[in-house]
Amino acid sequence: MKVLVVGSGGREHALCWKIAQSPLVSEVVCAPGNAGTARVARNVAIPANDVDKLVHLATHEKMGLAVIGPEEPLCLGLADRLRAAGIPVFGPSASGARLEGSKLFAKEFLTRHRIPTAAYRRFDRSGQAKAYLEGCRTWPQVIKADGLAAGKGVFVVHTAKEGCSVIDTVMEERRLGDAGNQIAIEEFLPGEEVSVLAIVDGESLCVLEPVMDHKQVGDGDVGPNTGGMGVYSPVSLFSRRLQWQVEQNILIPTLHGLRRDEIDYRGVLFVGLMLTDAGPRVLEYNCRFGDPETQAVMRRWKGDLVPYLVAAANGKLSELEAPQWDERTCVGVVGAAEGYPASYRKGDVINGLEEAERVEGAVVFHAGTKVGAGNSVLTDGGRVLCVTALGENVEAARKAAYAAFDEIRWDGKFCRRDIGTRRHRAAEVGG
Ligand code: AMP
Ligand code: GLY
Repeated sequence: MKVLVVGSGGREHALCWKIAQSPLVSEVVCAPGNAGTARVARNVAIPANDVDKLVHLATHEKMGLAVIGPEEPLCLGLADRLRAAGIPVFGPSASGARLEGSKLFAKEFLTRHRIPTAAYRRFDRSGQAKAYLEGCRTWPQVIKADGLAAGKGVFVVHTAKEGCSVIDTVMEERRLGDAGNQIAIEEFLPGEEVSVLAIVDGESLCVLEPVMDHKQVGDGDVGPNTGGMGVYSPVSLFSRRLQWQVEQNILIPTLHGLRRDEIDYRGVLFVGLMLTDAGPRVLEYNCRFGDPETQAVMRRWKGDLVPYLVAAANGKLSELEAPQWDERTCVGVVGAAEGYPASYRKGDVINGLEEAERVEGAVVFHAGTKVGAGNSVLTDGGRVLCVTALGENVEAARKAAYAAFDEIRWDGKFCRRDIGTRRHRAAEVGG
């Protein structure tokens, strides 16, 4: 079977790497891919949001499965178009992708189906939103632009003045374009954040191992939010009891809600959770694998991933046993280009990739990279790559990941140095 993977990030490299190991797969094709996917798949230069060309490619090459990485093509209806053309697809319909594509749709869905989340108000006029903030007695408050904003649409504000200036930027100056036509203002929830990913087929679900992301750019969780600067898995504070709670109170009700709303959802259901004193609360839904969460999940997934992707695409997940997980810890460190998450430099030569992969337990997943002259590898994005390593415990995995990371060189390279250490802080806080 030929498998099409759509996207060009570290998530897609990890997916191509894992799918290419399957005995069921004759070829992996990645559109558009990066310098890393080129090593395990055939890259085809079609952008991830060019729905017409992707449908043509998939039908012309008789793909046995399409796996859609990023949210944008899902929101554009790529899964619906491929299914209509007879291709099995791992990824939700456009109506399902609205859980990520519209924060207000997600908040309404959560409220309608009584799934625990932060209380919120909806605003489509800046004046009303500002008046509401002026009357708020509890701070901080969280302002969320409704539409897709590449991780830049959420603002935690501490005073009415700060909030009003965010509202001006988003709703008056339209800094995020149409994404800011409407906003939600929601209560701030204190706690630890964790991502839970489940593969779903519309009827049943298969929960993946929890992963801890590090969203802020700087050590100690300071600075602006990014797509994710590093991960570790498993997450010690995520106990079996908590997993059960998340399944019963969040994942299963979400699946029921989707069914009741007649939304076709086959793919990844990714919930961003805040673990509050009152229990887990949904901060956001994503309709796809996380990045860099997927890099750690693929490293720890034992056995073949492809049967699960195919079963989800065909509504047959309940026929499979739960996947087996490597007991070891995975730490993933993202290397970014100078300037990220604001405008960043591109086109720098990357050296030391082979040396990095000689470190025991390490695998490097490319993200913003491309092949340059003479088969060199060049930086081509804000998040350039993610170095993952498995170890017997988090310390060993951290040590191997950073040892491999330090073999890699390009001008302007930077990373967070504290990936994996939050685990200890959380364990202490939680007793
Ligand atoms: P979201 O894209 O909705 O997950 O928001 C991005 C980030 O903002 C989250 O990862 C949290 O760190 C933070 N955040 C969002 N909503 C809340 C909330 N209600 N309370 C506290 N922090 C939040
Ligand atoms: N790492 C967070 C995300 O993929 O949205």
